[in-house]
Order: sequence, then structure tokens, then C-alpha cells
Amino acid sequence: MDAISLLKQDHRDVKALFREFQGLGDRAESSRQKLFEAIDEALTLHTKIEERLLYPAVKERARANSDERLSVLESYEEHAVVKTLLKEIEKIDPSDETYRAKVKVVIDCVEHHVEEEEEKGGLFDIARELLGQEALEAMAEQIEAMKEKAGV
Ligand SMILES: [Fe+2]
Ligand SMILES: [Fe+2]
Repeated sequence: MDAISLLKQDHRDVKALFREFQGLGDRAESSRQKLFEAIDEALTLHTKIEERLLYPAVKERARANSDERLSVLESYEEHAVVKTLLKEIEKIDPSDETYRAKVKVVIDCVEHHVEEEEEKGGLFDIARELLGQEALEAMAEQIEAMKEKAGV
């Protein structure tokens, strides 16, 4: 097991939550809030793991002005956009008409971001190339430890 496999599994899990959210009926406000809380928690932990472990390791090895460095810097920015939206949604009521619109934007942003991490030549491929298998396996253990600490 390596870090990339674990992070890809997180992506699949959160996408399943997105599908569930999108399948809710118009009046399902309490389910909507509960599902949003699950999405919020999953994304908060996943972005924290990537920003604490994977992204700094890639950034450290990527040359200045390289495509690899731009890719990791862009990833940090995309996380920041998603986190800002999550904070906004936390403050509003699920009956608010902007609630679903904001969650829809979170879903669109995350799907785009996940695509860029997983696509051929994307951030995960860059990480494999720059870090190597051994480091990614060691990182998997650190990810498991962070998840355990978070109670997941
Ligand atoms: Fe990410
Ligand atoms: Fe990710």
C-alpha cells in the first residue's frame, strides 16, 4: 500500500458522498445537512493530509518555475477555494436557497481537482516520479496515523 492508493480511495469515498447528496429530494433538509457534514469532514481531513505530507514533499523536490512546481502550487490554491466555500456553507442553514448552489460548486471544484491529481501526468504521477515508491510507502503509514488520530 502506498500514499497514492490511499488518497485515491479517499477520492472514491467522497465521490460516493457527492452522488448521495445529489440524489436527495427537495425537502430532505436534515439529510442534506448530515451529508454535507460528512463531505465537509472527509474533505477537511483529506486536504489536511495532502497539505501536510504529499504536497510539501513534491514541492521540495520540484525545481523552481517547473511544471511540477506549478502543478503543486495550483493544487494548494484549489484546496484554499474549496475550504473557503466549506466554511461559508457551515454558516448557512440547509433551507437557504444558496445552500445547494454552494455545495454544487464544491462538488464541481473537487471533481476538477481530483481529475487533475489522478490524470496521466497529473500531480500523483509527478509525486510518483519525484518521490519514488519507498517514500510513498512510508507516507502511507503517516497517512494511516493521521487518520487514526482523527478517529477515522
Ligand atoms: Fe488535493
Ligand atoms: Fe486529493
